[in-house]
Amino acid sequence: MTATTSRVLRFYEYGEPLDVVRLETAEVADPPADRVRVRVIATGLNPADWHICRGFMAGSLPRGFGCDVAGRVDAVGENVTDVAVGDLVVGSADFAGQPSAGAADMAILRSWAPIPEGLDPVRAAVLPMVVQTAVWTLDAMRVDSDTTLLVHGAGSMVGYAAVQVARDRGARVIATAGPTFRADLVGFGAQVTPYGEGMADRVREIAGGPVDLALDAAPPAPGTISALVETVREPHQVVTVSDHDDARTLGARVNLDMVREQGWPPNDPTAEYTTKTARGQFRLPISRTFRLDDWRSAVELSLSGAPHGKVVLIP
Ligand SMILES: NC(=O)c1ccc[n+]([C@@H]2O[C@H](COP(=O)([O-])OP(=O)(O)OC[C@H]3O[C@@H](n4cnc5c(N)ncnc54)[C@H](OP(=O)(O)O)[C@@H]3O)[C@@H](O)[C@H]2O)c1
Repeated sequence: MTATTSRVLRFYEYGEPLDVVRLETAEVADPPADRVRVRVIATGLNPADWHICRGFMAGSLPRGFGCDVAGRVDAVGENVTDVAVGDLVVGSADFAGQPSAGAADMAILRSWAPIPEGLDPVRAAVLPMVVQTAVWTLDAMRVDSDTTLLVHGAGSMVGYAAVQVARDRGARVIATAGPTFRADLVGFGAQVTPYGEGMADRVREIAGGPVDLALDAAPPAPGTISALVETVREPHQVVTVSDHDDARTLGARVNLDMVREQGWPPNDPTAEYTTKTARGQFRLPISRTFRLDDWRSAVELSLSGAPHGKVVLIP
């Protein structure tokens, strides 16, 4: 094995992504023990990438970003026995405090799953963070076939995934969403209503009263948590993945707090959902793919708050 050079997106100071991120050439080290290095085929972007640029989980600099990666294994670290050089995998980049991460030509992964034959690696690259968040959160909420669940912001990718996971469990699902994915969500078996003014009343009318649990999967927006509290019996029946401050103030819960309380890290659902995606039993829509050189356009779309599907970088 030898270290390799790679284009990497990274930053030297914290700030707004479009101000601080640079595309550079850097050396990517050999994979350490329990890691693999891949030649990246596609990197799925997430709002978490921009939180990292702004200083979330701050550490040494320069720092790369990009968590969700599909690629071909190029080197394996000590103790790795389940993949070999040349295998196609999807997984999570080793991003905490590293000088390069998933948004690059080469990436070190800390976890991975095989990409089944016939599944486009671009479709696999968008899965890890979204399915981890949806499955871990619904597990922590104990959503099952007896639950009437509201998924607020089901046009977000976490919400779109949560609707499918909850329906697979047999839950009754009411979803709020804009028009883009309305038909998809109805197809998954959700009862769909727009978000915005009057949302809580519409949800209670559809449910015939309060819902059992409400999942806030939308990007943070003022007034969301208080509106969701009106859809349930008790504030703690509202769980957010995004608006932590309002949730804690209003007696709702934060998904990461619940997952941590119940034992972190839970099992990684990426392999299961990669297989389901290959079989046509699960899907996430892709809004647009961009070449790595055109990263600014990708960041702008992802930051818009309304990308309407996953945004993907292709080296
Ligand atoms: N570990 C974690 O806890 C974790 C992990 C991943 C993401 N997150 C957080 O979860 C949130 C969603 O992430 P994501 O990647 O799924 O986002 P995303 O796909 O970028 O969400 C954007 C979509 O949300 C919908 N939306 C925008 N404003 C809304 C509003 N006011 N009310 C309802 N829906 C609205 C829009 O869809 P339509 O208008 O078409 O319906 C938009 O296309 C983010 O805040 C992210 O930081 C947390």
